[in-house]
Amino acid sequence: MRPILEQAAVFPQQRIDVGQVVLAQAAPQHELMAARDVIGKITGVVDTPEKFEAHRLEMAKRVWDRMKSRDSKECRNCHNFATMDPDKQKARSQIKHEEAQEDNITCIECHKGIAHKPIHHLLEEEAQAGQ
Ligand code: HEC
Ligand code: HEC
Repeated sequence: MRPILEQAAVFPQQRIDVGQVVLAQAAPQHELMAARDVIGKITGVVDTPEKFEAHRLEMAKRVWDRMKSRDSKECRNCHNFATMDPDKQKARSQIKHEEAQEDNITCIECHKGIAHKPIHHLLEEEAQAGQ
């Protein structure tokens, strides 16, 4: 497999997308390896910007599944419920964050499309198509 940076350089316009996945998962080596694995799986499949676009939902789903399985560790590096001040948040946030803590719902289940161009709207279309 080619190194990550070279992968990222294949589509300079998408460097942020690929780079953020890697950056968000930087540090411990096993995590970096896992990020490599996600990118590794797409090697050979994604060799044009059109294909990147076509596979984006699939790639995003892998990242969401991974984040969910790790209780959105990436988000909690910077934010967490213990240090949030609900009084400074919108009423809508307060209600949802209470619900999240009571029902153990993790950040990524509600917050998709924070750091990237939105793609999660396609989940609904896909669900409809599958019916
Ligand atoms: C590197 C640190 C960092 C990480 C990682 C991070 N955030 Fe943030 N986030 C911030 C900062 C800084 C702000 C801006 C806070 C402010 O405006 O007061 C912010 C703002 C937000 C906002 C408010 C955005 C708005 O437009 O009002 C949401 C929602 C949010 N983050 C959710 C998340 C979620 C979900 C994740 C994980 C997918 C995440 N963040 C990961 C640092 C981070
Ligand atoms: C049950 C769904 C849900 C979960 C789980 C959830 N959030 Fe939110 N969050 C929301 C909603 C809804 C808003 C309000 C968004 C809006 O109105 O723009 C919000 C708003 C925020 C904001 C902005 C707050 C404000 O009012 O300025 C931040 C920051 C944030 N969430 C971070 C997180 C983080 C970090 C996690 C995980 C620890 C998390 N959220 C989990 C639903 C959720």
